Amino acid sequence: MNKITVSVELSEFSPGEMTPLYKDLVEKAKEAIKGSYSPYSNYPVGAAVLLSDNTIILGSNQENAAYPSGLCAERTALFYSSSQYPLEKIKAIAVTVARSSEEYPFPCGSCLQVISEYQSKQNHPIDIILIHPDKDSVLLAKGVENLLPFAFKKQHLSNT
Ligand code: THU
Repeated sequence: MNKITVSVELSEFSPGEMTPLYKDLVEKAKEAIKGSYSPYSNYPVGAAVLLSDNTIILGSNQENAAYPSGLCAERTALFYSSSQYPLEKIKAIAVTVARSSEEYPFPCGSCLQVISEYQSKQNHPIDIILIHPDKDSVLLAKGVENLLPFAFKKQHLSNT
């Protein structure tokens, strides 16, 4: 047997320890919750994407009576960012939820896969900032590989 062990690194920051730029991004993610359309889950999510020219794009989850037709907050913000600003790099994405919870709002696998795609495209790590809904502290992953160590990448396709 060959055991494979992977380590990831996440850093927790209190609000006072954040840079002004990231503090602002956190506030924008909270603002983004207002746009959530989540009548089926009652689980509003907000995301804010920071681009290399310092533009901030907001996104929220958008649900549908045909459930799979809805989209998460992160991908709503990321797809808009890439569509409208294809030449800008994505520096960071902040995510928050309206509901009280003991947990950080870890993005789902599909959203992490999309972050991974853009990170590979731009060849520069994307900071992922998860905002604790109760404590207001944040968890920072410097690069998607710290949340999705085994992403599916385009190299897999070229090897077939
Ligand atoms: N959701 C997000 O917006 N982001 C995630 O990473 C996980 C889940 C949304 C989808 C759905 O509208 C609701 O949360 C419940 O799953």
